Amino acid sequence: MIHTDTTGDEVAAHYDELDPYYRSLWGEHVHHGLWETGRESPLAAVDALSRYVAKRAGIKKGDRVCDVGCGYGATARLLASEYGAQVTGITISPKQQAAAAAAGGADFVLGDWLKNDFPDESFDAVIAIESTEHLPDVAQGIREMARVLAPGGQLVICAWMAGPSPSEWQKKHLLEPICREGRLVGMGNEEDYLRWIAGAGLSLQSTDDLSRQVRRTWPICIQRTIGAFFRDPALRRFLLDDHQRNRIFALTLLRIWFAYLTGAMRYTVFTASKP
Ligand SMILES: C[S@@+](CC[C@H](N)C(=O)[O-])C[C@H]1O[C@@H](n2cnc3c(N)ncnc32)[C@H](O)[C@@H]1O
Repeated sequence: MIHTDTTGDEVAAHYDELDPYYRSLWGEHVHHGLWETGRESPLAAVDALSRYVAKRAGIKKGDRVCDVGCGYGATARLLASEYGAQVTGITISPKQQAAAAAAGGADFVLGDWLKNDFPDESFDAVIAIESTEHLPDVAQGIREMARVLAPGGQLVICAWMAGPSPSEWQKKHLLEPICREGRLVGMGNEEDYLRWIAGAGLSLQSTDDLSRQVRRTWPICIQRTIGAFFRDPALRRFLLDDHQRNRIFALTLLRIWFAYLTGAMRYTVFTASKP
């Protein structure tokens, strides 16, 4: 496991500081797009990833769903409006929670997942789209997901992962800086996730490597960042301001793309159920 000492406060500060940047470049979904046919627009591709998760989680009308690390709430709203689910999202970022609550469509809670006080067995499905990488203790985070799931409930985790055998160069120049700059506490590999899921008492149903279908996200983000740099004076000031701790993430975009192209990074969806 690639590991950094990032804290929950730093993760919250990262998302709060980058709030205008994330919203203008990513929109309300802060996750990869999924290109199943290759012809989808970027917007259709991010919706497609949310629907992929809904399908894996088997979400149906009336299901109680917890979205762990819900960002601006776009997936939670989609699950509520298209599937009729009752969704509760939780994020550690005050700015994200305020924006999500203002947009409505689901309940949005501000808090740290590792300190959540949701009752045992209170959800039919738990989803975590690209949030487990930020948890200081992923094993505990997944145990919490298992705790709040009702028996028979489904867990779906979409994770940025380290490839099976990254070289020392890939670790030093790609994975470690990506974690530091993106405020990821770490990047587990497939074996780590399988151990954490089994350790939480869940039964694994599938492991899907979507790396090839999602990696197009990064050239799009790079292109949008370059375009916005010239168009948007506020973004330009932000990226050129030495005092902005999180501006380095703009450069990380290149590392992430390269990490996918060289196999140092993978994108995997884990589906598990609670017996
Ligand atoms: C890459 S964003 C993904 C957002 C959202 N799932 C989406 O797909 O649009 C990561 C999210 O995880 C949240 N997060 C990170 N650590 C968290 C924690 N300890 N508790 C709750 N949320 C957390 C962040 O605030 C952010 O919303």
